[in-house]
Amino acid sequence: MTKTLEVDGLRKRYADVDALEGVSLTVPEGAFFWLLGPNGAGKTTFINILVGLVRASGGSTRVFGHDVEDDYRRARDRIGLAPQEFNVDRFFDP
Ligand SMILES: Nc1ncnc2c1ncn2[C@@H]1O[C@H](COP(=O)(O)OP(=O)(O)O)[C@@H](O)[C@H]1O
Ligand SMILES: [Mg+2]
Repeated sequence: MTKTLEVDGLRKRYADVDALEGVSLTVPEGAFFWLLGPNGAGKTTFINILVGLVRASGGSTRVFGHDVEDDYRRARDRIGLAPQEFNVDRFFDP
């Protein structure tokens, strides 16, 4: 069965900050899940990697089986995002 999310060893380093240090998780299709953590935990970084706003430093991320870098069009086609801070325009076709 296709997984909603398959994240394996995901890392992100900004200059001198390790925002994500090897995140691995799987979310089965149809499941609800939450991402909880204090400010600076890496939640926004994680979401931004899923939607293609931030490039990971390592590891892999698949959305409904589509790699968010190698197969980013199909991955993004499966995502709906209600952003807290970003303008939505970039998520629509020109
Ligand atoms: N663009 C950036 N440049 C440098 N450091 C960043 C950037 N974005 C986030 N960070 C740092 O990465 C860490 C995780 O931040 P963030 O993903 O925003 O966490 P959260 O959303 O959980 O509060 C923090 O230490 C933050 O300061
Ligand atoms: Mg945040």
